[in-house]
Amino acid sequence: MRILMTGITGLVGAGFATNLLRSNPDYTIVSLCRGFGNKSGLERTKDTIKEQCEMDDKQDAEELLSRIEIVEGTLEDFPASEMSAKGPYDTFFHCAASVNLGKDPDKKTYNTNFYGTQSALSLAKQLGLKTFHYVGTAYVAGKCSGVVMEDSMPATEWNNSYEISKYDSEKLVRESGFDYTIYRPSIIVGRLSDGVIRKPLAFYRILEFLARVKINGCKKAGLPLNGPFSTKLRIAAGMSDKIYFVPQDYVQQTIAKLFVLPVCNKTYHLTGMSPVSTQMIAIAVCEALKTTGLGIVDNVENPSKEEKLVQRMLDDLLPYFKSNITFDNSNVIEALGKEVLDWKLDLDFLRKMVYAYYKENNPELL
Ligand SMILES: NC(=O)c1ccc[n+]([C@@H]2O[C@H](COP(=O)([O-])OP(=O)(O)OC[C@H]3O[C@@H](n4cnc5c(N)ncnc54)[C@H](OP(=O)(O)O)[C@@H]3O)[C@@H](O)[C@H]2O)c1
Repeated sequence: MRILMTGITGLVGAGFATNLLRSNPDYTIVSLCRGFGNKSGLERTKDTIKEQCEMDDKQDAEELLSRIEIVEGTLEDFPASEMSAKGPYDTFFHCAASVNLGKDPDKKTYNTNFYGTQSALSLAKQLGLKTFHYVGTAYVAGKCSGVVMEDSMPATEWNNSYEISKYDSEKLVRESGFDYTIYRPSIIVGRLSDGVIRKPLAFYRILEFLARVKINGCKKAGLPLNGPFSTKLRIAAGMSDKIYFVPQDYVQQTIAKLFVLPVCNKTYHLTGMSPVSTQMIAIAVCEALKTTGLGIVDNVENPSKEEKLVQRMLDDLLPYFKSNITFDNSNVIEALGKEVLDWKLDLDFLRKMVYAYYKENNPELL
């Protein structure tokens, strides 16, 4: 099978590509990839695949790379004829997107995602493909509450332009006339075994920010960075117990397994069924940073300068700590059996995950 894809350097795309090629020796991939700095898309892909294989503790990067070809380009300036020239293909896996959750005043995030999906669909049509695979997000559910089924799109309000772009893109895919498979991950975090992640995105900005709070506080007070620290910082986040962290290895392996099943217009929640709570996250972070006094509250009255800064810096992430959505997983269970969901995220996992992040990024704090 020859697969045309986008997003191979991403957290999801690299894991998907390596998992899929490893378990299917006759598969090959052609991916769109852009250069950055002085590196071409091809060089960046090689670096990424090597990093992913190292993380998987496998020595097969060269073999996998021998089955990957790259077309240099971007979603905005879609090199359709170059991609077409490397065909024929059996299917399209569209994974690339801007994952910026922040404000989008000039609609850059929206346009990249929506028109990128439109370009991918239009190329798939031109190539005469029958099937289309699309990586969406569980948060097309936006501000819904209650149970959300995999094949439904009940949202009428969203938290940011990213969610709207993914909702509109998913609708494009559903209405395109292709047989489709849609994968909807939730908030991707480190792998199950040790919490390590190849590319910390989104939620991890909170960990980065709290590390900075501790570093600044300790320096000001002349305290050792790895010692106990007390703060009066309050963060206005909800007390949700429906924070759907999902381990990166589950997402990557499950997409690769679902990908090889018959394509029959199904959508899959890659969310797991063991959401964590705001409180559990706060405990894990405070323990790792040996910090006391961090207040998670509904509303911060008379915020200090530092509290205003927190609110501004983390504003785009905080809605996910107020979520009241339950993601149904019936399609995943029907397709792969309930054993695939035989894992649970608990406080011990969060401790591992937070520790793994600080060990890699702020070892001076441990
Ligand atoms: N991470 C999550 O928690 C999460 C959760 C739910 C859904 N998702 C979905 O999963 C998919 C993959 O995201 P990810 O987590 O792997 O994020 P990521 O690590 O940022 O990867 C995004 C991929 O898209 C590519 N890309 C972005 N903008 C592009 C552009 N303008 N032109 C060409 N390529 C572009 C990136 O290439 P570069 O390396 O060149 O930037 C990268 O390969 C997305 O569709 C996202 O919506 C992610």
